[in-house]
Amino acid sequence: MSSIEAKVESRLSLSRRAAQIVQSEIRMMSIECEKVQGINLAQGVCDTELPRAVAEGAKRAIDRGMNSYTRFDGIAELREAIAQKLKVYNGIVVDPLTQITVSAGSTGAFYCACLALLNPGDQVVLFEPYYGYHVNTLLAETELEWIADFAARHDLFVFTDEIYEYFLYDGRRHISPTSLPGTRDIQDRTITISGFSKTYSITGWRIGYSACDPRWAAMIGYINDLVYVCAPSPLQWGVAEGIRELSPEFYRGLAAEYVVKRDLLAAALDRAGLTPCSPQGAYYILAEVSRLPGATSKEKAMYLLRQTGIATVPGEAFFHGAEGCSFLRFCYAKPDAELEEACRRLERLV
Ligand SMILES: Cc1ncc(COP(=O)(O)O)c(C=O)c1O
Repeated sequence: MSSIEAKVESRLSLSRRAAQIVQSEIRMMSIECEKVQGINLAQGVCDTELPRAVAEGAKRAIDRGMNSYTRFDGIAELREAIAQKLKVYNGIVVDPLTQITVSAGSTGAFYCACLALLNPGDQVVLFEPYYGYHVNTLLAETELEWIADFAARHDLFVFTDEIYEYFLYDGRRHISPTSLPGTRDIQDRTITISGFSKTYSITGWRIGYSACDPRWAAMIGYINDLVYVCAPSPLQWGVAEGIRELSPEFYRGLAAEYVVKRDLLAAALDRAGLTPCSPQGAYYILAEVSRLPGATSKEKAMYLLRQTGIATVPGEAFFHGAEGCSFLRFCYAKPDAELEEACRRLERLV
C-alpha cells in the first residue's frame, strides 16, 4: 500500500435512511428455510400453477418482440383490461388513460402512491395485523362506511390494498371501499391498489397497479417512471390476456381450491395442538402456538423450523406491540403435495 493510500481514512457509510431499515421477518424466514431445504410456509410465494392464458400471452409477446420499454403507466391493453375488471368485479369506474398506473407489483404501486401523496412527518393510521390487510377487506360493510366517513371528516387519503380480492371463503364477498354508495367523496380520496401476483400465481412477475383520481394518478405515474420506468413488457401482455380470457368460473374455482387447502392446514394445526384462527379471506392462518418452547414468536418459529423443517412467520411481524408473540403465520398457497407433507410433519409434533 502506498503512503498516500494509507493516510486516507474512509468516511463512507450507509445513508441515514438505512439506519431505519431492517430485513423483513418474512424474507428472513425464507432465507432460514432455504438453509435447511425446508418447506416454506412463511412467504406468500404462491408456487402453484399459473393460468395457461397468462403464460401463453407472455410467451406470444416475447415471440412478437414486445421487449422494449412500455408507456410509463403500462400498455393500453392492460390498463383497459384492468379498467374493465374494476368496473365488473369491484364496481369502480375509472378512465384507463388517466387513472391507472401499472407498476412493479402492488408493492411498487403502493410505494409510488406513498411518494406521491405523503410528506415526511405525516401521520398514518395502520390496521393490525399490518400485512393482514385481507382481514380489513373482509370487514362488514358498515365498518368500511365508518372508515370512509372518518377519512372524509379528517380529510385523509385512504390506501386500500386489495391483493387478495378473489381469495374469499364461507360465502364472503369482496367490497372495494371506492365502490361504496353514498359515502362522501370516497372516490376522490381513495387509492385502490392491487395486483396479479396472487390471483395468477405470478409473484415473481411483478405486475400490480393503482387506480385513483386523475389528480393523484398523474404524479404516481411520474414517480413510477422515475423508480421503475415501466413494469416488464411481455408480462404486462400476459396479464392483459389473462384478464380478458379468464371467466368468472376461474376466480370461483380459485376460492374453491384454496378453501380445501385452508381446511387441510387448519385441521393439521389443530391436531398438532397449535390453535388456528381460520381465515375467511387471503391464504394465511395465524395459529396460537404458546405450547411451543421459546420466549418470543421468533424463537418459536425457529424451534418449529428445526423440528419439522417448516418455515413460518413470527406473529410479532404483524403487530406493533407484543400482541403477536404467541402466534405464527402459516401460508397455504402451496402445491397440494407439499402442503400435505407439511401437514404430516406438523402432526408428528404431537
Ligand atoms: C397484503 C399484501 N399486499 C401486497 C403484497 C405484495 O404483492 P405484490 O407481489 O403485488 O407486490 C403482499 C404479499 O404477500 C401482501 O400480503
